[in-house]
Amino acid sequence: MSKKVLMVCLGNICRSPLAEGILKSMVDPTQVIVDSAGTGSFHIGNAPDPRSIEIALQHHIDIRGQRCRVLTKDDLDIFDHIFVMDKTNYQNVLRLCKSQEQVSKTALLLPAAGLGQEEVPDPYYGGKEGFAHVFDLIASACSKIAQNLKED
Ligand code: 4NP
Repeated sequence: MSKKVLMVCLGNICRSPLAEGILKSMVDPTQVIVDSAGTGSFHIGNAPDPRSIEIALQHHIDIRGQRCRVLTKDDLDIFDHIFVMDKTNYQNVLRLCKSQEQVSKTALLLPAAGLGQEEVPDPYYGGKEGFAHVFDLIASACSKIAQNLKED
């Protein structure tokens, strides 16, 4: 059976769309389903931020078709792994959890990948270089996550 992975940030327009696109590029789509969502609702229905689209395209990953959506309580049942970009949003997801099982499948992305940093910083108010940095961090994490999913 395929595994389902959800990437979560605040707005679902900068970091988690990148995480969705990057992980999708590293897995067999018949084995791993990848989606993303935000804990905030300011950008519902919008395409990813143009700066995320640009850095992804530079790495031959096309995220232009993604549309922002909000994390729902059902997501906590549907997905097998929920990877969150920063501690504030991790706490926000944990507050929605109704069971220990839901808590256990929710993790900070970078520590879950064994990286020595806790958070993917929010690049929204910065420049393009922030998006390049975030891309590299997420790509390092996703290559480890993709490997772990194969061994699951
Ligand atoms: P994201 O970035 O959580 O990586 O999608 C943000 C997007 C929008 C806002 C903040 C962060 N905002 O305040 O609108």
